[in-house]
Amino acid sequence: MKTRITELFGIEHPIIQGGMHHVGYAELASAVANAGGLGMITALTQPNPAALAEEIRRCREMTDKPFGVNLTFLPSVNPPDYPGYVEAIIKGGVKVVETAGNNPQKYLPALKEHGIKVIHKCTAVRHALKAQAIGCDAVSVDGFECGGHPGEDDVPNFILLPRAADELEIPFVASGGMADGRSLAAALALGAEGMNMGTRFIATQEAPVHENVKQAIVAASELDTRLVMRPLRNTERVLNNSAVERLLEKERKLGADLKFADIAEEVAGVYPRIMKTGEMDAGAWSCGMVAGLINDVPTVKELIDRIMAEAEGIMRDRLTRMLNG
Ligand SMILES: Cc1cc2nc3c(=O)[nH]c(=O)nc-3n(C[C@H](O)[C@H](O)[C@H](O)COP(=O)(O)O)c2cc1C
Repeated sequence: MKTRITELFGIEHPIIQGGMHHVGYAELASAVANAGGLGMITALTQPNPAALAEEIRRCREMTDKPFGVNLTFLPSVNPPDYPGYVEAIIKGGVKVVETAGNNPQKYLPALKEHGIKVIHKCTAVRHALKAQAIGCDAVSVDGFECGGHPGEDDVPNFILLPRAADELEIPFVASGGMADGRSLAAALALGAEGMNMGTRFIATQEAPVHENVKQAIVAASELDTRLVMRPLRNTERVLNNSAVERLLEKERKLGADLKFADIAEEVAGVYPRIMKTGEMDAGAWSCGMVAGLINDVPTVKELIDRIMAEAEGIMRDRLTRMLNG
């Protein structure tokens, strides 16, 4: 399949694996690249720029196909060494960066100067237009369904994607709620040039996370996610568990007085405990409503081949049959 996204990134299939904290290691990024999609290493999961440089090197050993690095700009009092991470990306010869969180403008000149394509992930049309205006090459449009941070507007992809298509000139991919060939065919019909998946890629053989995490996703239905941290305007969609219920109870009790410190126990530093050791109630971890569509743990290649065959089947057979009466 050929779209503006496959052309832009030099990939075979219009499928991107979004950056994921403590999931986006070289193992997953290279598996996605080898299967013809665009895999992403997550920069901030690496403790420092030198570790990111090493992760990029490891990934290159596992694939000769293009892969990217996710750079997430978080609201924080002591920001990570962003210039150092950017330098590691440039020196590592990476050709694609997925930015997310705040506006990436400050780092665009350095990235562009080295021929790096930038895809910015955003949750609102106005942010997508801003990304286009500052020179991003593409955007990932993340609907309300998504795992992680859906923003504060709560617009689902059936509205958000055609709105983006009406306004944008640069190509975009649909993100949030994408799981299979039906998702891809629908995303293309709504104006996207491909799709970005997070949660679906965690439940794969190559995702370097504890088996408990994969099984939790397989067991979950579309009713099992919750929105946390809304009172802090840092909304995150997570899988429900006992820590999340405790967190939501604190939010109800404290209302507008809630501070980050009140919920630090449920959200700070929990990712390694969940992803590495499989302590599934250790805290809140991102997961999309799409968990309701995930029922197995295939290899990345099986997943991507299946998605492409299903999407092509829908477009070539099912939809065409309808047209032919
Ligand atoms: C466990 C997990 C961790 C994530 N961490 C990040 C992150 O560090 N940076 C980022 O930009 N997006 C992050 N995301 C969001 C994904 O890249 C992607 O945009 C999102 O999962 C798409 O929605 P889906 O889960 O419905 O596919 C994370 C998602 C999950 C499920």
